[in-house]
Amino acid sequence: MSLPSARVLILGAGGQLGAQLARSMMADGLQESVTALGRAELDFADPEALRAAVRAHSPQILVNAAAYTAVDRAESEPELAFAVNATAPGILAEEMARRNGWLLHYSTDYVFDGSGTAPWRETDPTGPLNVYGASKLAGEQAIAAVGARHLIFRTSWVYAAEGRNFLHTMLRLGRERDRLSIVADQIGAPTSAEVLSEATAQLIARLHDGIEPPCGIYHMSCSGETSWFGFAEAIFAAFAERQPAPTLTPIATSDYPTPARRPRNSRLDGSLLAQNLDLRLPDWRDAFAAVVTALGVPASR
Ligand SMILES: NC(=O)c1ccc[n+]([C@@H]2O[C@H](COP(=O)([O-])OP(=O)(O)OC[C@H]3O[C@@H](n4cnc5c(N)ncnc54)[C@H](OP(=O)(O)O)[C@@H]3O)[C@@H](O)[C@H]2O)c1
Repeated sequence: MSLPSARVLILGAGGQLGAQLARSMMADGLQESVTALGRAELDFADPEALRAAVRAHSPQILVNAAAYTAVDRAESEPELAFAVNATAPGILAEEMARRNGWLLHYSTDYVFDGSGTAPWRETDPTGPLNVYGASKLAGEQAIAAVGARHLIFRTSWVYAAEGRNFLHTMLRLGRERDRLSIVADQIGAPTSAEVLSEATAQLIARLHDGIEPPCGIYHMSCSGETSWFGFAEAIFAAFAERQPAPTLTPIATSDYPTPARRPRNSRLDGSLLAQNLDLRLPDWRDAFAAVVTALGVPASR
C-alpha cells in the first residue's frame, strides 16, 4: 500500500486501536509524519490541553481512537464519559475545521437500542440504552455540528492481540475456572483492532492521494455474526492446545445483570462503507484467526 506523508496525529495511542494504528503506521516507516499521543501526554478531560496539542502538532489528518470505554463505570461517571466522548471530539472537530483537515473518529453499535434482528444502517434511528452509548452518540453529533471534514466509523466488540478485551478476559477466566456462563442473546460481530487499523490506513493513504470520500458516519465492523457465547467458544477452540477449555454454558442477558444495559442486536450493516469508501471488512472468524496467529498459535487449530 502506498502510504501518506501528510502529518497524521493519532490520539488514544495507549488503547487497543490507537496502539495498533501507531504500531502499524510506524512500522511502515512513517515516524516522521505520524505522531501518536496517549493519555499520559494528553488528557481528554482538559479542553484547553486538547486544543493546544492539536495546534502544536498541526495535523492534516487527526485520528481519534481515545474514548471513555468503561461501559459499566460510565453509569456512575456520566460527566467524565461525556467530557471524553462528546465534548472532546467536538473540540477536535473545531480544531480540524480551523485547518481544513480531516478528523477520523470511532463510534459504537451502542448508539442503537438493540431492537429487532436486522443489521443497523447509518440512517436508522438511534436510541442508546446506556450512558456510554449516549456519550458516544453526543460525540458524533458534536463532530457533525462543527462541519469539519470527518469520517465517523461505528464499530463493535473491539478486541486485539494486546490490550484489555473479551479475548484476554476469557483466556484468563478459563485458566481460573472450570465452568463459565456466557451471554448468548446479544448478537454482533467481534472486530479486531488490526482490521480497523488496516481499513483506516487505507483511507489515510487515499486522503493523502487527494481522494476525498463523502463525509459522515459509516458502519465498520467485521462481517458475519455471533454471540458472546459463540465468540467464547471460538476462543477456547483456538487456544485448546495452550490451555484446557472450561465448560461453557449459554445464558440470557437477564441472567447476567450489569450496571449498564446492553443492546441485543448489535449487527451493523456495512453496505455504505462498501458503496462510498470501497471497503469491506473480513468475516469475524477470519479476522480472529489472524489475531490468533499473531499470538503465536497456528491458524489451523
Ligand atoms: N472496545 C470496544 O468493544 C468498542 C466497541 C465499539 C466501539 N469502540 C470504539 O472504538 C474506539 C477505540 O476503542 P478501544 O477498544 O481501542 O478502546 P480502549 O482500548 O479502551 O482505548 C481507549 C483509550 O482512550 C484512553 N482514554 C480514556 N480516557 C481518556 C482521557 N480522559 N484522556 C485521554 N485518553 C483517555 C484510554 O486510556 P486508559 O486506558 O488509561 O483509560 C485508552 O488508552 C473508541 O472510540 C471506542 O468507543 C470500542
